[in-house]
Amino acid sequence: MTTTPQPLLRVRDLAMSFPGRRARSAPVRAVDGVSFDVAAGETLGLVGESGCGKSTTGRMIVRLLEPTAGSVTYDGRDISHLSQRELKPLRKELQMVFQDPHSSLNPRQTVARIISDPLMVQGSSAADARKRTAELMELVGLIPEHIDRYPHEFSGGQAQRIGIARSLATGPRLVVADEPVSALDVSVQAQIVNLMGRLQQELGLAYLFIAHDLSVVKRVCDRVAVMYLGRIVEIGPKERVYAAPAHPYTRALLSAVPLPDPAAERARERITLLGDPPSPAAPPPGCSFHPRCPKAQAICRTEAPPLRVATPGETRQVACHFPEAA
Ligand SMILES: Nc1ncnc2c1ncn2[C@@H]1O[C@H](COP(=O)(O)OP(=O)(O)O)[C@@H](O)[C@H]1O
Ligand code: SF4
Ligand SMILES: [Mg+2]
Repeated sequence: MTTTPQPLLRVRDLAMSFPGRRARSAPVRAVDGVSFDVAAGETLGLVGESGCGKSTTGRMIVRLLEPTAGSVTYDGRDISHLSQRELKPLRKELQMVFQDPHSSLNPRQTVARIISDPLMVQGSSAADARKRTAELMELVGLIPEHIDRYPHEFSGGQAQRIGIARSLATGPRLVVADEPVSALDVSVQAQIVNLMGRLQQELGLAYLFIAHDLSVVKRVCDRVAVMYLGRIVEIGPKERVYAAPAHPYTRALLSAVPLPDPAAERARERITLLGDPPSPAAPPPGCSFHPRCPKAQAICRTEAPPLRVATPGETRQVACHFPEAA
């Protein structure tokens, strides 16, 4: 029998349409046909400006939201429309880390309660859950003696360590980390990113690592996907996307990242995008990036460019009629 390699996560044509705010307003196409795979132990970075649909994508993958179209296949099983009861055994394997650690932790629960809750739900005894909680605290760099403290007694970085420990409690294989460092001081962001990298190595986790900034995911991701207005506009191996971005939007995002080398920083080309992203309730026709694109031509206003391999022999894909030749 031949076995085909099967990614841990397969997302195909995933879409989420929220009802418009008022009775007759257009639906919000928050996610509009997104496809990608994540292999076991791999990190895919998912990047784009606020409002482009990153969180909605992440929430559909862990099934906090049910997609309006498309599919999420986890470990070979289509989980797109499973009921809460059917999802329960999968909750162990699919976990999420949220952006704001303090608002995602219940202020009235101790760390012991917060981290052991998912273990108790899966059937652990209270004593086992407490022991495991102390081990998890140690694993994420917290002091196990602080197990009976409350979230407000911890700094932002420590609180995010609690959120990470909670996500790891049941031994997941895939963690969707939704901007896990965006709410933290710059000085602690690197510590948390490094911690997540180390945990991945030790535990063989796969991550979907969401960020609004390409600099955050550079250290951790193997591949990166760039989203704009509900769609992926570029996806490929990290080395290619960072060294030779092919989509004008990726180039603009990268041009906003300061460079560590002072000479390179002085020479850095800055591409300023015109205006704000359009509303996903009324996306522009053709390429939805055209009103802000410095390279837009007539065809861009009428024909949406498909996501396709731009350079023969590469796996990187780009949705642009005029991708940058690399
Ligand atoms: N529950 C919801 N109801 C209506 N619109 C929503 C809801 N959640 C998100 N949106 C809208 O969907 C779009 C994508 O949001 P989101 O996925 O949170 O983007 P991101 O995480 O990239 O900032 C935004 O326009 C947002 O206002
Ligand atoms: S298709 Fe046209 S408008 Fe869209 S990104 Fe490419 S050049 Fe710009
Ligand atoms: Mg978000």
